[in-house]
Amino acid sequence: MADQTKIGVVGAGTMGAGIAQVAAQAGFQTVVYDVSQEFIDRGLGRIRSFIERSRERGRITPEQEKEILGRLSGSLQLDAMNGCSLVIEAVPEKIELKREIFQKLDAICAAETLLATNTSSLSVTTIAAGTKHPERAVGMHFFNPPPLMALVEVIRGAQSRGECVDQAVELVRKLGKTPVLAQDTPGFVVNRIARPFYNEALRILGDGDAKVETIDRIMKEAGKFRMGPFELMDLIGNDVNFSATNSLYEAFFHDPRFRPSPIQHRMYEAGLLGRKTGKGFYTYESK
Ligand SMILES: NC(=O)c1ccc[n+]([C@@H]2O[C@H](COP(=O)([O-])OP(=O)(O)OC[C@H]3O[C@@H](n4cnc5c(N)ncnc54)[C@H](O)[C@@H]3O)[C@@H](O)[C@H]2O)c1
Repeated sequence: MADQTKIGVVGAGTMGAGIAQVAAQAGFQTVVYDVSQEFIDRGLGRIRSFIERSRERGRITPEQEKEILGRLSGSLQLDAMNGCSLVIEAVPEKIELKREIFQKLDAICAAETLLATNTSSLSVTTIAAGTKHPERAVGMHFFNPPPLMALVEVIRGAQSRGECVDQAVELVRKLGKTPVLAQDTPGFVVNRIARPFYNEALRILGDGDAKVETIDRIMKEAGKFRMGPFELMDLIGNDVNFSATNSLYEAFFHDPRFRPSPIQHRMYEAGLLGRKTGKGFYTYESK
């Protein structure tokens, strides 16, 4: 039987940790799975510092801090997802990996457990297709950083059952977020619109027409964007963003509008991933 107060998260990275924090803050018992204790500790450590800062700033009381952290746990066993009402997968953007995780979750979890993927650009239909119950699989696309971003795209796969989609929308509301329904098309809505934002900025840079700092400043000061394209790529991770660009390019059958930039490829190959490695388009003092 699935426990309606329990949520599982697979992957304790940038997104997984953020989603787990959102779930624990919304009152759910939350268990996070990853492949090594080091990754779990890092993810839970990031949540702890965030919550600690919230308490120091007076946004939450010491009792609330204790309660939120008390609802969070880590596990090296995927079996720990058994009993959850919702499991959100947030592992790297690789189709075979996501399909494999979904097949395992399908076998571990009770029939009424909703299985969600946080994929940015892969097909929810394809991820769910290898499972025995693709009707309970949906996309739940959170934005970075999950604790601060209100929007969640809820994606209906080709085989998702209507009730499961409704349930996902309801759960997103319970997590304190704003659900928006999207079809299972490459990049859904936000990431599809965002591709030209990054790609054109990279082309301007590649053509030598403007520098990174100039492009970011113009977009922020004149365009009123919260972040410039290069700051945002560094926040997302140049590896994560490069794979999203690649998968949209593939999914649209090499439509030139989505062609990846050689600059982004080079950044990825060089390990200049952005904030998480301390270096990307900008240099960051601490990781
Ligand atoms: N970074 C973003 O801005 C962003 C935004 C929205 C959606 N997403 C999507 O979220 C997903 C995760 O991205 P991220 O940025 O958190 O990546 P990340 O690299 O920060 O984290 C991935 C985590 O998954 C773990 N992992 C790897 N293999 C695993 C396995 N077999 N089982 C369990 N865990 C495993 C890694 O150890 C790591 O902790 C991707 O699908 C990505 O497209 C990312």
